[in-house]
This record gives sequence, structure tokens and C-alpha cells, in this order.
Amino acid sequence: MMTTIEKIRKCGIVPVIALDKAEDAVPLAKALVAGGITVAEVTFRTSAAEESIARIAKEVPEMLVGAGTVLTIEQAEKAVAAGAQFIVSPGSDVDVIRKAKELGVVMLPGVVTPTEIIIGLKEGLEIFKFFPAGNYGGLKTIKALAGPFGQITFIPTGGIGTANMTEYLEFNKIEAVGGSWMCPKELVNAGAWEEITRLSKEATDIFKKVRPN
Ligand code: 3PG
Repeated sequence: MMTTIEKIRKCGIVPVIALDKAEDAVPLAKALVAGGITVAEVTFRTSAAEESIARIAKEVPEMLVGAGTVLTIEQAEKAVAAGAQFIVSPGSDVDVIRKAKELGVVMLPGVVTPTEIIIGLKEGLEIFKFFPAGNYGGLKTIKALAGPFGQITFIPTGGIGTANMTEYLEFNKIEAVGGSWMCPKELVNAGAWEEITRLSKEATDIFKKVRPN
């Protein structure tokens, strides 16, 4: 069986999702899967997150569902109880990192600086979200960080889309790219599932071109 990280690596794209209504969770997950995206990061930016994770975990088994924007240990507990298999945070909080470990799920804390990476390394982590990627120097900064931190890999998010995902994916220290471009809130709230599938397929096709295996 593939591990959580292997599943993320194989999909190569992590959609960052904000759902206002839990009823939209399953149609959205199915729209992403129809476009080849089998990972979903449902963010705690809305109150529908917990219920949305639970619905996807139950009704769309082919989807690896995780929780994003997890800022507290309470959110981490709720997310995992709902069925989240990984936890993403925009930053690095040691309590949240330890809670994820205790709960037995993959933790992807956000970093942009060497100091934050050292905090994560001390906690035994080797894979980090690099966020907000575009604002903090993008690929250039990731390459600079990969010098002293040769053992770690990244999932950059923030300002990534079809125009620049190739350059990120061409670097072997990048596990996958994340972002909201294939499922923006306007499309989700409008129930524009076909368009979300089209955007997902477009992203998947780019990923497969860069990483055919
Ligand atoms: C995240 O939390 O990863 C970002 O909000 C995604 O950034 P994007 O909306 O620029 O893709």
C-alpha cells in the first residue's frame, strides 16, 4: 500500500480548498478526481472544513483527504477525527507538529526561513510546505534552502498555477505543488464542477509531462 507521501508525490498537485458549504465537498472532490487529482487539502478557513473532510473521507475513497490551515491542536484533533490523513499549516507550531505525530498523520508545516526548517528537523520532519512561495522568492529560494538542507523536500504553495508549475516540478526537491487555481471559491460556490475538472485535467497533464513516471 502506498504511504500518504507516496500518494501526494504520485498526484503531484495539492488543491487548496475552502468550502463554504459541506454539501459541496463531495461534488468538488469528484470533480477533482475526474480531472486526475486524487489529493485534497480542505482548509480550516471556513466552518465547513470538518464536515467537508468527513464527507470526502466517507464518500470519495479514491481521494486522499487532508486538512489545511491548521493553526491549533484542537483543529488537528478535529481534522483527524473527521478522517484527515495529513495536516498542513501555513506556519510551524511545535505543539501542532507534535499533535500530528501523536495522531499518526503526516504533518506539513509551512516554512520560509532556515530557522523554521531547523525547528521542523528537530521534530523529525523532512517535508515542508514552502508558503507563500511566490512572495518569498519561489524556486530560487527553495534552491538556496536545498543547499544547507539537502535532506529535506518541499511542497510549495502560494502564487502557483499552470504558468509556473513546470519550473517548480522540474526541481527534484519538490514533492508536489499546491494551490487553489483549479478550485477557486467562485467556481466552487457556483457549482462549476465541469470547469474544475477541466482545470484539474490541465494541471494533471502538465504534471505528467514533467514527471511521466
Ligand atoms: C495556501 O494556503 O497554500 C494558499 O492559500 C494557496 O495559494 P494560492 O491561493 O495562491 O494558490
